[in-house]
Amino acid sequence: MNIIKIHDRLFEPFILNDQIQKRVKLIAEEISKEYEYKNPLFLAVLNGAFMLAADLLREIQFQSEISFVKISSYQGTKSTDSIKELIGFTESLTDRDVIIIEDIVDTGLSMKHILEQVHAHKPASVKVATLLLKKAALKHPVQTDYIGFEIENKFVVGYGLDYDGVGRNLPHIYVERSA
Ligand code: IMP
Repeated sequence: MNIIKIHDRLFEPFILNDQIQKRVKLIAEEISKEYEYKNPLFLAVLNGAFMLAADLLREIQFQSEISFVKISSYQGTKSTDSIKELIGFTESLTDRDVIIIEDIVDTGLSMKHILEQVHAHKPASVKVATLLLKKAALKHPVQTDYIGFEIENKFVVGYGLDYDGVGRNLPHIYVERSA
């Protein structure tokens, strides 16, 4: 497999699609056991989680519902405040068992905002499934219940993740080459 160039940066293969599929299958088995009779609502966070959501939901062993939400960032009243609002709910989350599907937890700020807003709808329970976790980058300690891979604090693309809009369709995850 080759080194690829996206915009001005070089990336090398890091986690291959085979490995991702194996891990996703295991997570789906775990979720299937825990939620079989609970009719959970999966909440996939666009854009990055679209590929994980598609692969994970195909492996879930019971009928399930999925909804797609997006984070829209805007400046708060202070110029330093970037507020992330979750948009696109079509289902009521009240009294539902919700499983959030995210591509990556980096500093944890996005997930912190997502969790606050999901909890405001008074769900019965909330769990978080993330493909990647950059543990060393975490500044906001957020819950992560199902983790695909813990990775170093390096920039990655592929399997839903982009660099400036490009790279989401790559089947494998690539990591930026150190200089
Ligand atoms: P956080 O709010 O710092 O946890 O960042 C979460 C968001 O930043 C993710 O949903 C991604 O969109 C983006 N992000 C963080 N790290 C990476 C990366 O290595 N590659 C691509 N996007 C990333």
